[in-house]
Amino acid sequence: MVDESVSDRVTVYEVGLRDGLQNEAAFVPTKHKMKLVEMLVDAGLRRLELTSFVSPRWIPQLADHATVASEAERRPGVRYSALVPNHRGLQGALSAGLEEIAVFLSATEAHSKKNINKTVEEALKVLTEVIVTAKGEGLFVRGYVSTVFGCPYEGTVDPAQPHRLVHALLDAGVDEISLGDTIGVANPRQVRDFMNRIKGDVPLDRIALHLHDTRGTALANVLAGLDAGVRTFDSAFGGLGGCPYAPGASGNLATEDLVYMLEGMGFETGIDLDRLVATSQYVSDLVSRTLPSKVLQSELGRRRKEEERAKRANGQPRSSGA
Ligand code: HMG
Ligand code: MG
Repeated sequence: MVDESVSDRVTVYEVGLRDGLQNEAAFVPTKHKMKLVEMLVDAGLRRLELTSFVSPRWIPQLADHATVASEAERRPGVRYSALVPNHRGLQGALSAGLEEIAVFLSATEAHSKKNINKTVEEALKVLTEVIVTAKGEGLFVRGYVSTVFGCPYEGTVDPAQPHRLVHALLDAGVDEISLGDTIGVANPRQVRDFMNRIKGDVPLDRIALHLHDTRGTALANVLAGLDAGVRTFDSAFGGLGGCPYAPGASGNLATEDLVYMLEGMGFETGIDLDRLVATSQYVSDLVSRTLPSKVLQSELGRRRKEEERAKRANGQPRSSGA
């Protein structure tokens, strides 16, 4: 059961602007990204990953990274971050005035090569230097380890490999580690076993879980994380997202679904579900399709029925398809 001795406060780390939009077929215009930053903060999100300072050849959807990161509205008490793969990315983040960055590594060689064109050791070498420089500049540094629970190219992952990388990143100076179920294959037993494996030598208050919901197991995995004492979870508005270099990776855990479950269980997130739903609806209109979030779909269905009822009460005809 959930450990009652650990805080009831849960931090939701919003990755929709980055992990969500990086996987969209179409480029979302910069002005809408700016609007989304405002809407997310109004909804109560206090940690946002705004974009990625990666190559626009590799991720064209986030080619406007410099504008988004430098011009997005800043509010006190909100932490804005961006993904950084190398020194050039760090310089971009610093020039944009960010006080936080996220570096990323894969637990598997095949995903590492496909995603950043480097072996795991090559990536670790570059990132160690980036982390040291970033800490010297006073930045908060998050380190992602991807493919912790399964790899699209190599299949099963030996937990010794992500465990080793968690230590390597902590030794290099990261403040927080986010464990990625990049292609949404994890199950709660795997999450529990990995937490049991690392908890003796890694402080779990520095661990976040980054769960994709490809196979519908993300919320069950959140519960396993909560039971272990994890209190930071990554999610994306509407359940958008995926890594373009991890075939089969679909949506991140939807922020609405996460917040609905956490608040229902008595955890405090500080997030207003109605505003969050409005934000995801805005995104759904932008990308012209229904988003996977269950809570969003249920809420929109409820609203449609209410509108129909109101129309009928006013003597208006029923709209088709209702
Ligand atoms: P490369 O081709 O090996 O490196 O790419 P390069 O040094 O030869 O650079 C190639 C081009 O990129 C050059 O430009 C560089 O100047 C430019 P060109 O000469 O072709 O015009 N470049 C950059 N441009 C902007 N910002 C930079 C930068 N660095 C080089 N920082 C590289 C290596 C890392 C750049 C490339 O592989 C890349 O950008 N990869 C990004 C892949 C990516 O963003 N994947 C998705 C994010 S990871 C993820 O989703 C998982 C996560 O969500 C957790 C989980 O789910 O598990 C985090
Ligand atoms: Mg991801």
